[in-house]
Amino acid sequence: MGRYIVYGGKKLFGTVDIHGSKNAALPILCACIINSGINIIHNCPKITDVFNTCKILQMAGCTIKWENSTVIVDSSKAKFIEIGEDITSKMRSSIIFMGAFCGRFKKAVVSKPGGCKIGKRPLDIHIEALKNMGVVIDESNNCFVCDAKKLKSAEINLRFPSVGATENIMLVAAFADGKTVIKNAAVEPETMALAEFLNQIGVNTVCGDNVITICKKCDFCNAEYSIIPDRIEAGTFMAACACSGGEIFLKNADAHNMGSVIDAFDSMGSKIEFCGNGIYFKAPDSIIPQNIKTGIYPNFPTDMQPQIMAVLTLARGKSVVIESMFENRFNHAIEFNKMGANIEIDGKMAIIKGVKELYPKETMAFDLRGGAGLIMAALSCNGMSIINGSTYIKRGYENIEKSISGLGGIIKYEN
Ligand code: EPZ
Repeated sequence: MGRYIVYGGKKLFGTVDIHGSKNAALPILCACIINSGINIIHNCPKITDVFNTCKILQMAGCTIKWENSTVIVDSSKAKFIEIGEDITSKMRSSIIFMGAFCGRFKKAVVSKPGGCKIGKRPLDIHIEALKNMGVVIDESNNCFVCDAKKLKSAEINLRFPSVGATENIMLVAAFADGKTVIKNAAVEPETMALAEFLNQIGVNTVCGDNVITICKKCDFCNAEYSIIPDRIEAGTFMAACACSGGEIFLKNADAHNMGSVIDAFDSMGSKIEFCGNGIYFKAPDSIIPQNIKTGIYPNFPTDMQPQIMAVLTLARGKSVVIESMFENRFNHAIEFNKMGANIEIDGKMAIIKGVKELYPKETMAFDLRGGAGLIMAALSCNGMSIINGSTYIKRGYENIEKSISGLGGIIKYEN
């Protein structure tokens, strides 16, 4: 387990390149299994979760070739494999292979996924939906054994617009005769990106107001697709700047799907301008407290909650953050308090009384975004902080230490 060493207290200035979105790249890479052809995926982030997803594709007989940030996936010779716990335990998104395999191979054996421990994260919505589509699923010793020989299209009404469940259904529906309709579907930009990719490979996918319709076309085709910019990475660097002070340019950031995040920073007193190929961000002189509630898109994203909390620990007054998506996503608050923050947790609510400054400390990341929040907090305070648990952070951020150093921050990674 590596760690980051941060010498905070320096303002950030300059340009940071925003990479492709982790949460768009992962389902799109899974979907490469569908077309039994060549998939050229540009702007793919080089992060652990992507490398692990590519490992599963290779184990299943796909060839993977990297050219800078382009990954070429040839799935023409893909074959069925069982996907074991050794790799599914590393990331939640491995469950999306269940839909892709049930579609292409009419069967799947996928061990239950791991991923960030931010809540119970059950899979009932995935399982119920696939069963509605005729997939017979046996849940035995921490594994799902699926038989999709009798796959059929269906009209599915999700009890909750789960991102992963929506994506799983989209992948298996690509092989179901007729039209599958997902009601109360997730509409996150990353899920919409998957729909765009599916249309490219020949799956007729139409997204309406919380409804996604999927129809299999006669045959699939090759694809060339560019991953959308990562809105969470862009928001993370806004938080870094808000914590440290200064002004930065987020190159390639797309403001269109960052409305709630931009509104939050704007009302905190940041100055934000949109230019052709990115977003200009100036830190607030003093941070105005906020009341933030996470929710499904387009509400404030739960994946930005730890990072915005880091900023609010330094606000000039009391803020309230309500985490409505996951039941255990406040582990970072304990670590912030070790650094001198004043945060009280009451169930889904965090009450944050702003303090003048935080103090450098050795802290522990318990999950990906919590780890990013700790880096933000460390950047705000003079002196050396250590953030243990870099494995989590490397799952979702490509070379975060290089990006922050490029803005004048002092951070290094120690294996
Ligand atoms: C995706 O996770 C993202 N991961 C998460 O990002 C993100 O936080 C989440 O969507 C919400 O936006 C990827 O896209 C790889 P959900 P997912 O299914 O699909 C409950 C990050 O940091 N639920 O929409 O797992 C679940 O427990 C990660 O990049 C069920 O109850 O999220 C949660 O409370 C963290 N039953 C809520 O729904 C189910 O069958 C949202 O989960 C499925 C989900």
